[in-house]
Amino acid sequence: MDSVSNWGDKVLSRFDQSAQNYNASATLQHAVAVQLANHCRQQHMPGGLWVDLGSGTGHLADALETRHPGQRVLRVDGSEAMLRQQPLSARTQQWDLRGRLPRWPEAPSLLASSFCLHWLPSPGQVIRHWLNQLAPGGWLAVALPIEGCFPQWHHAAEITGIPCTAITFPKIKALLQWVGADQIRLQEEMHYNAVAKSLPRLLKPLRRVGADCTTQPSLTVRDWRKLQQAWPDLDGDGQLRLTWVIKLMLIQR
Ligand SMILES: C[S@@+](CC[C@H](N)C(=O)[O-])C[C@H]1O[C@@H](n2cnc3c(N)ncnc32)[C@H](O)[C@@H]1O
Repeated sequence: MDSVSNWGDKVLSRFDQSAQNYNASATLQHAVAVQLANHCRQQHMPGGLWVDLGSGTGHLADALETRHPGQRVLRVDGSEAMLRQQPLSARTQQWDLRGRLPRWPEAPSLLASSFCLHWLPSPGQVIRHWLNQLAPGGWLAVALPIEGCFPQWHHAAEITGIPCTAITFPKIKALLQWVGADQIRLQEEMHYNAVAKSLPRLLKPLRRVGADCTTQPSLTVRDWRKLQQAWPDLDGDGQLRLTWVIKLMLIQR
């Protein structure tokens, strides 16, 4: 097994383990799914097959269905445990998104995905593949954290020399390298600050949702303490902050 599939297997197994607690800690993921669904509602998206890729427990699919009564959204995820958190009436499909999309009886008119692309190898190529699978005139709606996330963590890592064990988030240029500028119907950047008194508390939601996978060796308690001491306290209120940069995009085939 090569390192890429090893990494992807590790990611899926972490999400499997955290499925039951996911909704309780995924406040940011929920807010982003709602925002992306709101953007979709403002476009004239044709009915037909709508799919939520990397649906997890179904935040985005639920938000889309609520805003488009009568429209069902197929929920696709590699983690069986995540799919099991969805209502029995939901349409689900377990599928590893590291490979090609399933062959459905009709081409999808909407492929939507929130907080999943950055876990897949070569997200830019994945976007190209997903766009090619759409029906002509179909839509791709994606949201994901991008390069620029966690500046406080990178700063503390640089000062202390302790490696930043957060994953590397995709660069927007790499994501859009195969997308024509005329295909992009909407781009939005959301900034979100998590705040807590200590580093373990600040990173707790990441752990609880299963998003704490890393390619780096784990740090010692001493390393974490040093990182916390070097964490910037720009507001001078003794609180630690962790800034997310989330990109939302609507792209049309
Ligand atoms: C952070 S969760 C996001 C879930 C949901 N979209 C949301 O916004 O709440 C990431 C999801 O991507 C799924 N995922 C990660 N790698 C995958 C892969 N290779 N194939 C299919 N799903 C994958 C995980 O199982 C998990 O449910």
